Amino acid sequence: MRPVLLEMDGFASFREPAAVDFREVDYFALVGPTGSGKSTVIDAITFALYGSVPRWNNRRTVANALAPTTDRGTVRLVFDLAEHRYVAARELRRAAAGGVGVKNARLERLADPDALGTPDDITEVLASDSEVTPAVEKLLGLPFEHFITCVVLPQGDFAEFLHAQPARRQEILVKLMGLEIYPRIAQAANTEAERARQRAELLAQQLEEFTDATECAEQAAQDRVATLEEVAERVRAALPELAEHGAAVTEARQACETLTAERDRLRAVAVSAGLEELGKREYDIKAADEAADEELAAAEAADTAAREQLAAAPPRAPLEQARRDHMELDTLERRLPATQALQRHRARALSDVTAAEEEAERLALQARRTQEVTARSHLAAALRPHLRDGAACPVCGQRVTTIPGPPAAPDLDRAEQARVQADREVERLREAWTKASRAEQQATGELNALTGRIAALRSVLADALTREQATAALARREQLERAADEADARLRRARAARASTEQATTSVRQEVQAAWSALEHVRDPLVTLGAPVPDRDDLTAAWTALVSWAAAAATTRETALSGAYERLARVRGELTAAEGRLAGVLATHEVTLPAGRPLTETAEPAVAAALEGARQEARRLIERRKQAAKLDMQRQHKEQTHQVAKTLGHLLRADGFPRWLVATTLDTLVAEASGTLAELSGGQFELTHDDGSFLVVDHADADSRRPVRTLSGGESFQASLALALALSAQLPAMAAAGAAQLESIFLDEGFGALDEATLETVAATLEELATRRDQVVGIVTHIDALAERVPIRFAVRRGQGTSSIQRETP
Ligand SMILES: Nc1ncnc2c1ncn2[C@@H]1O[C@H](COP(=O)(O)OP(=O)(O)O)[C@@H](O)[C@H]1O
Ligand SMILES: [Mg+2]
Repeated sequence: MRPVLLEMDGFASFREPAAVDFREVDYFALVGPTGSGKSTVIDAITFALYGSVPRWNNRRTVANALAPTTDRGTVRLVFDLAEHRYVAARELRRAAAGGVGVKNARLERLADPDALGTPDDITEVLASDSEVTPAVEKLLGLPFEHFITCVVLPQGDFAEFLHAQPARRQEILVKLMGLEIYPRIAQAANTEAERARQRAELLAQQLEEFTDATECAEQAAQDRVATLEEVAERVRAALPELAEHGAAVTEARQACETLTAERDRLRAVAVSAGLEELGKREYDIKAADEAADEELAAAEAADTAAREQLAAAPPRAPLEQARRDHMELDTLERRLPATQALQRHRARALSDVTAAEEEAERLALQARRTQEVTARSHLAAALRPHLRDGAACPVCGQRVTTIPGPPAAPDLDRAEQARVQADREVERLREAWTKASRAEQQATGELNALTGRIAALRSVLADALTREQATAALARREQLERAADEADARLRRARAARASTEQATTSVRQEVQAAWSALEHVRDPLVTLGAPVPDRDDLTAAWTALVSWAAAAATTRETALSGAYERLARVRGELTAAEGRLAGVLATHEVTLPAGRPLTETAEPAVAAALEGARQEARRLIERRKQAAKLDMQRQHKEQTHQVAKTLGHLLRADGFPRWLVATTLDTLVAEASGTLAELSGGQFELTHDDGSFLVVDHADADSRRPVRTLSGGESFQASLALALALSAQLPAMAAAGAAQLESIFLDEGFGALDEATLETVAATLEELATRRDQVVGIVTHIDALAERVPIRFAVRRGQGTSSIQRETP
């Protein structure tokens, strides 16, 4: 890593923008008074790359990167590494709450290896934000700790390594080499050893449960399988004979059952109850049926005769009509004289009223006239006062010559009363006439009706029977009607009796039929046993024949049955013997049989089940032996793991291994530093160590050995620098990411008090370093005498609240 350009703005004491151009710079010095900001420039390089600074002593916080009065800042480092140019940049921001954070961290590779990473340059972003530090570590091949040990040697730490106590040095080396991991590995190995031991023990315990899974047990199981296979074969061979015996037993038992059943059926044959009584009823009903037939024939003949006689007699209606007409005529003729007398009386009364009414009319007319004359006289008397002698009459207009004397005053009211009286009389008589007229008309009507009816009846009855003849004819007819009714009743009775006997006959016939059916029902199933054919005409005979045959046949069966029982006993004995033999074989080989079922059914499945069980047991044992073998392998494996881990833990126990490693490294380091020191001291000094304590070999003093503490300031610087360079050569080789390109070394002060001689040595050493190796050497110093001997100087100043930096031109 060779720095090219460093830009700061707001970083620590650089509150204003500042830039350091390192192009063409191989050996330079940062100069300026104490507190001007020289170390800050080196910090900015570290911060740009790793996001932290050694003197902050805490990689997690960046609060010190911003001055308390600043809220934001940027640091940008352009650097070259193996033909490429890169930019590492980080921004700092203070949040409202006061905390400081890094933003927009970037690691970019510039497309143009001569560019300076201005905004226009094309770049490839290699990492951003939290990825930047790991990417830088990978690119440089150095973690932060190595970088601040090998590249940037911080102020104050520079000579520490040389002068530290051996134990402290060991500690520094352990830290630098990342050897803290080994005690952790030892612990992990011990834990693993314990775990493996426990697991192996557990597996051994599990294995104890497999004591049954022996080779011997497996062989025994296989043997039992073979034996049972043989037994199965024997059972298969024995079964047909057993089946034959079984069939013979079944057959013999069936023969017994058949004979028993036939015998029982035959014994059960018996005449059905009431057969005799039924025969008697059948006879009686036949006789009753015949009698009913005869009575019906007689009744039918009598009925026919009575009906014929009645039909021959005159009909009833005309006879009754004639008798009614005769009776009505007699009645009407008796009423005629009274009716005639009433009519005559009413005619006379009418003519009397007619005459009186005419007289009253005349008198009324007369009264009216009288009233008119009286009225006129009255009017004339009323005119007189109006007549004037010589004047015209107001009525007739003639000239009045004489005024008549006063007339007697007529009685107007009396004339009026007389006329009203006469009119009332007329009215009364008119009403009387109307009544009399109506009565007369009614009497005349009645009389006319009566005489008309009498004439009509007489005309009807002129050719009819007399009243006596009609009555006699009617009596005769009623007698015939009664006779016909009686004959009809008799016929009905006869029919009913006939129907009744017919019903009884049917019922008896049905019973007889049922008795036949019963016979068939008993006989039909016995036909196969030889039942006789029945006499179809005689129910009783048929039954008798059947019953006696059945008794004889039952006896025959009884005899046959004792023979059948003997045979059954014999074949049963044979079956039991054969079963006993087979059961013996099965029992010998511990094949259990289910109870209560025939051997022919159970033997084969029982052997098959036993065989299957034996096979399963054999398979199970094989499987268990496999499992046991697997467990044993696992146990052995764990045992091995336990041994290995235990050994490893033992080897790494305490810090033996790191101590050994550090001792080895120290040898190499001292050897390398010794060579460098010889070079830097012009061959005067070499470095060696005695169990970690550094000694110098002074060739100028008879190769004497003495502790490094006895070296002067300048010599100390040479030894420290030699060690620092050896470290920077060795550490990267130890780094996991491989060797890095250590092209720079920055020494921040640490030159101690420089007297003339020391100054000379230091300055010469640095010049030697800068020219001897192709690397950038930068020193930070406030000592002008030293600064003056460095070809390129950057002056750092502090003023007006900010640091600034400027290249001094010689
Ligand atoms: N985070 C910071 N903010 C502001 N000033 C700081 C910060 N860190 C250090 N300083 C101050 O910046 C100045 C420069 O410090 P430094 O670079 O160490 O000086 P020197 O030139 O002696 O190496 C000093 O006054 C120091 O106190
Ligand atoms: Mg300083």
